[in-house]
Amino acid sequence: MTAAPPHVAIANHKGGVGKTAVAQGLTVAAAEAGHRVLAIDMDSQGNLTRRLRAQVSTDPDARQKASLASVLQRPGRGEIERILVPSGYGGIYTDRIQIAPAHLDLELLPRTAAEAASERRLLRALAGVVDDFDLVIIDCPPNLLSHQIDVAWTATDVILMPCEGEYEAVEAARRIKERVSADRHTLNPELAVAGMVVSRYRQSLAVHRKRVGEMEKIVGPDGICPTRIPELVAFKKMSENARPIGECGPEGRQMEFIFKDVYEWTRNRIETVMKDAA
Ligand SMILES: Nc1ncnc2c1ncn2[C@@H]1O[C@H](COP(=O)(O)OP(=O)(O)OP(=O)(O)O)[C@@H](O)[C@H]1O
Ligand SMILES: [Mg+2]
Repeated sequence: MTAAPPHVAIANHKGGVGKTAVAQGLTVAAAEAGHRVLAIDMDSQGNLTRRLRAQVSTDPDARQKASLASVLQRPGRGEIERILVPSGYGGIYTDRIQIAPAHLDLELLPRTAAEAASERRLLRALAGVVDDFDLVIIDCPPNLLSHQIDVAWTATDVILMPCEGEYEAVEAARRIKERVSADRHTLNPELAVAGMVVSRYRQSLAVHRKRVGEMEKIVGPDGICPTRIPELVAFKKMSENARPIGECGPEGRQMEFIFKDVYEWTRNRIETVMKDAA
């Protein structure tokens, strides 16, 4: 994948830790940095699809046929192109963000997981198409061993783990790291964990400060993004209203720098980690 843009999968085995918030924030920050982004929604919940305002059909049947689930049934090389839709945010966002929209039927994919090379479906569907982009982001469901995870991890270069400062979230991230070590040789030999982004952080809570110390033991001090995403209403509005953080009131405008910093750190970190993995 050397000539292609970096592919980053956003994953944590724990639900609700802010994976999709980080995927949405990084997609927006990348577009604001002038980059063309392909955002792939591998979660049947379709939250990233909605939060980026993917311009999908309102007709349920048409929507299913033009979704990632339909492409991944038995994809031709580069077939993802036929379902890509722009973000409905408008302006630079619509120009620079393309989305592969999710559908509930993604949950049915495992029914055909026994077919040969089934975990390579996304990789095959992306072939060639990614050359038009500067970044590929894959939002994963909160699973560890599922077929969707195999498909996502086979297609990505690195994994970025948003993590809350709480015991279960940290242990869930640890399991992601352990599975990468255990299974990369079969799924994707160059797969690497880029690091962790501390999400929903409250500096005033001793437990959050303590858990960040444990995150460092999992990915090392350089593997933790120094900018932490605070738990604030503006981030809730970002998902609730499906808008960029900078358009989520005065607090949101103040928080615009957060995803800019996280994006800059992520790009640098991906470069380092990919060099080490090669
Ligand atoms: N920094 C934050 N501050 C406040 N609320 C947040 C923050 N990050 C996420 N949330 C809220 O927490 C909820 C879960 O976030 P999100 O959907 O991004 O998590 P997730 O890990 O993708 O969940 P899932 O595992 O279901 O895919 C959402 O309602 C979102 O608005
Ligand atoms: Mg999510």
